[in-house]
Amino acid sequence: GRGGGATGAALFATHCAGCHPDGGNTVNPKKTLRPADRQANGIRTADDVAAFIRNPGQGMPAFPPGVIPPGDARRIGAYVIAAFR
Ligand code: HEM
Repeated sequence: GRGGGATGAALFATHCAGCHPDGGNTVNPKKTLRPADRQANGIRTADDVAAFIRNPGQGMPAFPPGVIPPGDARRIGAYVIAAFR
């Protein structure tokens, strides 16, 4: 179970949705979270998303494990893959 932790959706709302509302990207509109954009940059799985947030590209802050622990990063990744089409 989740042990009372926040869901991927809630974690995304807290940490990501400010720049990625509805899976878009308000800072760099060419790099949305939708498959056509992220797959072009090799981001295909929940683990890929979880890795990306540790070492993102220009204009996105890094989220170290002290801020988003590994289990939460994986939940966010699973949410991103499932939610945005
Ligand atoms: C890119 C996820 C938070 C700004 C991306 C990409 C992913 C992602 C998967 C790659 C998209 C692609 O290549 O098409 C997330 C997640 C977040 C988060 C899961 C929360 C944990 C944020 C925040 C900002 C932001 C808070 C703005 C302050 C950007 C920008 C890019 C980007 C500018 C393009 C970076 C580049 O050129 O490689 N994000 N993001 N992101 N994100 Fe985020």
